[in-house]
Amino acid sequence: MEEILKTLPQHTCSWLKGRCTFYKYEGFWHFQNLLEGAILAQQTFKARSSDILLCSCPKSGTTWLKALAFAIVTRNQFDESSSPLLTTLPHLCIPSIENMIHEPMKENLPLVATHLPYATLPKSILASNCKIVYIYRNIKDVIVSYYHFMPKVSKLPVEDVSFEQVFDEVYQGISWGGPYWDHILGYWKASQERPGSVIFLKYEDMKRNARSNVTRLAEFLGYPFSAEEEKAGIVENIIKLCSFENLSNLEVNKSRNHHQNEPGFMENEYFFRKATDGDWKNYFTDEMKNKIDKLMDEKLSGTGLVLK
Ligand code: A3P
Repeated sequence: MEEILKTLPQHTCSWLKGRCTFYKYEGFWHFQNLLEGAILAQQTFKARSSDILLCSCPKSGTTWLKALAFAIVTRNQFDESSSPLLTTLPHLCIPSIENMIHEPMKENLPLVATHLPYATLPKSILASNCKIVYIYRNIKDVIVSYYHFMPKVSKLPVEDVSFEQVFDEVYQGISWGGPYWDHILGYWKASQERPGSVIFLKYEDMKRNARSNVTRLAEFLGYPFSAEEEKAGIVENIIKLCSFENLSNLEVNKSRNHHQNEPGFMENEYFFRKATDGDWKNYFTDEMKNKIDKLMDEKLSGTGLVLK
């Protein structure tokens, strides 16, 4: 692993006072420990054809997607008063490919999560043609979320961090999991090549219309709601259980270590902040807005993907 890492471009974030270094692997930026897990997974991960992959770029709504998918798939075992989501961070309910060393696959759960770009997924996943759910979000809110998240991980007060510098780096394509547009486009192209096996969920649409998106997700996962379940209010119960208001107020999500093997690396509370659509308006200048909108337009032009 050391030999591989030595050959990769590195970037140390000056806005995080040098406390965070990313490695560029197959065109995307990664944390060292997660990249090591990803490389190991590329060599050893054996996908089951029944696996369903939950994919995202960090800060796009991963925590929400994991909670919803878990609640949908396990609803015959647990209800809203007995769900493991009440006592466990959603990230720990579903194993992730990059963290396979610490969290083995769960035998009776078909869900697997990853922040890896499509092109870096272990080949066994592509060969098995398993289903993929991809969640994405307005890049401007992703940047604001990232601006708040990274200082926490780096143990720095956010007040010590310049939003302008964060913006500039993300704009250059340097961010955890970035370039963001390439991450989305990799999965978007896969969805065109493998119609029916990849769905896209948009964070803002889910906020606006949770019911139809949750129903669509359940159908895609292969766990559709029956008419009786709909009548009994199961869809609403799942939405409520997985809502930001509920999850962020649970004792377990107010603190506690996320990765026990890396003390202090990520606290559960880091994954819950504001969960609004449009917080970027409080941070972006007009110039920043125009610049990033123009960039996204250029990157997506001709791809058929419309983010607005
Ligand atoms: P903000 O920082 O804008 O508040 P990820 O899960 O991919 O790391 O994304 C984190 C973002 O999702 C954060 O956004 C967080 O507040 C929001 N989030 C976390 N749980 C959520 C939930 N249950 N519903 C909606 N948004 C949620």
